[in-house]
Amino acid sequence: MAPGTAVLPTNEQTLRASFVRDEDERPKVAYNQFSLDIPVISLSGIDDDAAGGKRAEIRRKVVEACEDWGIFQVVDHGVDAGLISDMTRLAKEFFALPPEEKLLFDMSGGKKGGFIVSSHLQGEAVQDWREIVTYFSYPIRARDYSRWPDKPEGWRSVVESYSEKLMGLACKLLEVLSEAMGLDKEALTEACIDMDQKVVVNYYPKCPQPDLTLGLKRHTDPGTITLLLQDQVGGLQATKDGGKTWITVQPVEGAFVVNLGDHGHFLSNGRFKNADHQAVVNSNCSRLSIATFQNPAPEAIVYPLAVREGEKPILDEPITFAEMYRRKMSRDLELAKLKKLAK
Ligand code: SIN
Ligand code: FE2
Repeated sequence: MAPGTAVLPTNEQTLRASFVRDEDERPKVAYNQFSLDIPVISLSGIDDDAAGGKRAEIRRKVVEACEDWGIFQVVDHGVDAGLISDMTRLAKEFFALPPEEKLLFDMSGGKKGGFIVSSHLQGEAVQDWREIVTYFSYPIRARDYSRWPDKPEGWRSVVESYSEKLMGLACKLLEVLSEAMGLDKEALTEACIDMDQKVVVNYYPKCPQPDLTLGLKRHTDPGTITLLLQDQVGGLQATKDGGKTWITVQPVEGAFVVNLGDHGHFLSNGRFKNADHQAVVNSNCSRLSIATFQNPAPEAIVYPLAVREGEKPILDEPITFAEMYRRKMSRDLELAKLKKLAK
């Protein structure tokens, strides 16, 4: 291993050129200039579906948040605080391990799951300032435990419990989202066929020149929903006007940020936004976030389920999720090429 390749070079005074973004992509708002624009929704009473009960109120808030942003936060979600704190503690301990320990799970070269430094990801013109651990957790038959880091000891079983609890929470949220789209509560889970889940743990080290770079570049998530747990540092940013203004999402202790992905957006016929977001870094402290991606099965059909009167479907034809993802990736590549040519 060449020295310095397994972790990000945090002791340097200036940022390496490969991390420097074009001016139009650089952060516009500080990592800790928090906004409360993204609604924080309590899920307490979610099963109370009497007319005018708690569930109706939650549904109404979800509709509003999804029409505006495609993002909301949830509290009183029923995931045990002890499990959340074990998950974050063990994740932090993992990233603090010496590089050679982390590299036992190196996933460069296309391996399914494990550790990677963003600068080793293939096909990125400018690199993100983050280290990542990925667990492919559902469907259970697809788990390859040899790719699941178990350092520090016990992390693997904590990830197992965490992914199970988050699958349960995601199913509850998909029911509410289905209803929010005016559909039967099973509609979204059925459209996913057999839901995939991937847990991605992001570690953003302190950065020498955070104004020039991003921890994670601007994107929308491809799947149905993503449940993001973040620490209290701050760094998740969102926009709802095509990137003219950005806000930094206020971290809320123990909350999950729920992002609607492209799949959810298409199924709602575009009425619900796919969250347009990025992560910024800072020079004061490192940051940890854990994104749990809930995706449909690759063969699931992507096509609007909720076409309202007077609307046309926003897709020309039904496609599989695998095809939707392929097109998204090739579009991104095309845009990056055009940008390079225009320089
Ligand atoms: C993500 O978009 O997957 C992570 C964003 C964050 O770290 O806040
Ligand atoms: Fe994301």
